[in-house]
Amino acid sequence: MKKITKLVIPVAGLGTRFLPVTKAVPKAMMPILDKPVLQYLLEDALRSGITDVCIVLNHDQDMIRDYFTHKPKLEEKLNERGKNKAIETLNYVIDHMNIHYIYQDEPLGSGHAILLAKDFIGNEPFMVMYGDSFFLGKYPITLELQKAYTQYNCNIIGASEVELQEVNKYGMLILDEGDEDRILGIVEKPALRETPSLLACNGTYILNPSIFKELEKIKKVSDEYLFTDALFRLMRKEEFYVGKTDSVFYDIGNMNGYVKAQQDAYKVLK
Ligand code: UTP
Repeated sequence: MKKITKLVIPVAGLGTRFLPVTKAVPKAMMPILDKPVLQYLLEDALRSGITDVCIVLNHDQDMIRDYFTHKPKLEEKLNERGKNKAIETLNYVIDHMNIHYIYQDEPLGSGHAILLAKDFIGNEPFMVMYGDSFFLGKYPITLELQKAYTQYNCNIIGASEVELQEVNKYGMLILDEGDEDRILGIVEKPALRETPSLLACNGTYILNPSIFKELEKIKKVSDEYLFTDALFRLMRKEEFYVGKTDSVFYDIGNMNGYVKAQQDAYKVLK
């Protein structure tokens, strides 16, 4: 089984649910305790052997590039003060990962953002993580996805179990009754009584490069090209299995998810 080494993280959305702060700080750079969400995602990916990441950002988000750059003066000062652990934390991702940046000129949706990484990915399976997903758990979420990929050798959608009251916020998986890891479809934000399962898409995927053909064909829905529309198209042609995780998933793109992530991270990581 071929190992997944490439990852795409689209972070170029406007983050309108988090204005005004997203005017200055991209959603993916919001801190959970003392670290930006994006750094957690990249550290997670590194722990499962992903070495090449493409961050799709917008033109107001150059602070992301700046953050993942060596700062010799700061390092020198920290060194003088004996803060070697801090230097290690600052540089771990930069020193071990090739980070590639692509600009999305207009916020035309997650599907449009991911399509921009087509040439970066080439012709191999790859991982996608949304920049506003956060996980707390024992194992890297990227490792759990890779395990599912090794087992099923097909497209994988990362999913986390959520409470029944929460299902109307997520894409909920429709699973095959005879093979409960096999995905038949996704219902977007169903009413509580109508949810097909309690497994919610958590913004992580392993996909065949054939997804790009579908991304090229999808149509705009209220000004955005939706990534899920391309997934629906590919589901008619290829197998999809679920990548289950033991980690707790937080959608930090909404206020409740963000606050809950802070509280839980304080208990677990502090
Ligand atoms: P979301 O819909 O959660 O992010 O997209 P958003 O559009 O920034 O949020 P709101 O609704 O305005 O508050 C899921 C992921 O896709 C990225 C987002 O940055 C997020 O990581 N995205 C979305 C893009 O990269 N480009 C887009 O045009 C839209």
